[in-house]
Amino acid sequence: MNEILIDSNAGVMTITLNRVEKKNSISVSMYAAMADALVQAETDVALRAVVFQGHETIFSAGNDIADFLKPATPSQESPVWRFLRTISTFPKPVVAAVCGPAVGIGTTMLLHCDLVYAGDNAAFSMPFVNLGVCPEAGSSLLVPQMMGHQRAAQALLLGEPFMAEAALEMGLVNRIVPPQEANAVARLQALKLASKPISSLVETKRLMKKAQAASVAERMLEEGAIFARMLGESASREAFTAFMEKRKPDFSKS
Ligand code: COA
Repeated sequence: MNEILIDSNAGVMTITLNRVEKKNSISVSMYAAMADALVQAETDVALRAVVFQGHETIFSAGNDIADFLKPATPSQESPVWRFLRTISTFPKPVVAAVCGPAVGIGTTMLLHCDLVYAGDNAAFSMPFVNLGVCPEAGSSLLVPQMMGHQRAAQALLLGEPFMAEAALEMGLVNRIVPPQEANAVARLQALKLASKPISSLVETKRLMKKAQAASVAERMLEEGAIFARMLGESASREAFTAFMEKRKPDFSKS
C-alpha cells in the first residue's frame, strides 16, 4: 500500500501520511516521496497550495525508529534532509490538518507550515532529549521564539506533550476542530488560498519569512550535524532499542 498519498486537484496538492498501522511514523521512502511531491508542487504552475494531513486518530509518530537503528551515512542529500530543506523553503502556502499524536518531526514540520488546523485530540511532542538526540527542523530556534524559553524547556528538555488548546494559545495552531472535520477544514482553507493571486501569495510568504530565513537554514545545519553525531552515541541507541523492545530506556550509563 502507498504510505504517502498524493492528490492534486483544484490548485491544491494534498499529501496524506498513510501508514496508520505504524502510527504514520515516517520512513526514508516516505520522506523521499514527500520531498518529491513538494518539488512538483513548487514547479507546477497549476498548484497554488499544499495540504499535509494524516488520519483523524494519528498525525505522525515521527521518524521511523527502526530506520534510526540502521547504519546510515548522514548526508544533506538524504531524504529526510531533502524533505526538511524543501518544506522549510517552500514558496507557496502550506496548510496542515493535525489530529492525535504529532511526535518529533510530526510537530516540528508544522513550524514550517503556514496554517495549522488541529483536532481536539491533537497532542504535540518533541521528545528529542528522551531519545538521546537533539531538536531538528530549526525547532531549537523556532520553538523558544514561539512559546518563550520556559515553555520551550518544558517541551524540549522535559519532552512533555502539549495539547491542542495550549498549541492554539501559543500560536502553533490556528483553530481547533472536531477530528473528523480537520482534513476538510484544511482543504477548505487551501482552496481559499488557491483562489488568490499566486504571485501575491508567494511574495507575501517570502517577505513574512525573510528576517528568519538565513538563521533557520543555518540552525537546521547545526542541529543536523549534532543529531547525526548523537545517532551514533549510546544514549540514542539505548532509547531506540528500548522502544523497539517495548521497555523503558536505561540512561544510567549515558
Ligand atoms: N517508528 C517505528 N514504529 C513506530 C513508531 C515509530 N516512531 N511509532 C509507533 N510505531 C509502531 C509501534 O512499534 C507499533 O508497532 P507493532 O504494532 O509492530 O508493535 C505500532 O506502531 C503501534 O504503536 P504503539 O506504540 O503500540 O501505539 P500507541 O497508540 O500505544 O502509541 C504513540 C502511539 C505515537 C504515542 C507511540 O507509538 C509512540 O510514542 N511512538 C514513538 C514516538 C517517537 O518517539 N518518535 C520519534 C520522534 S523523533
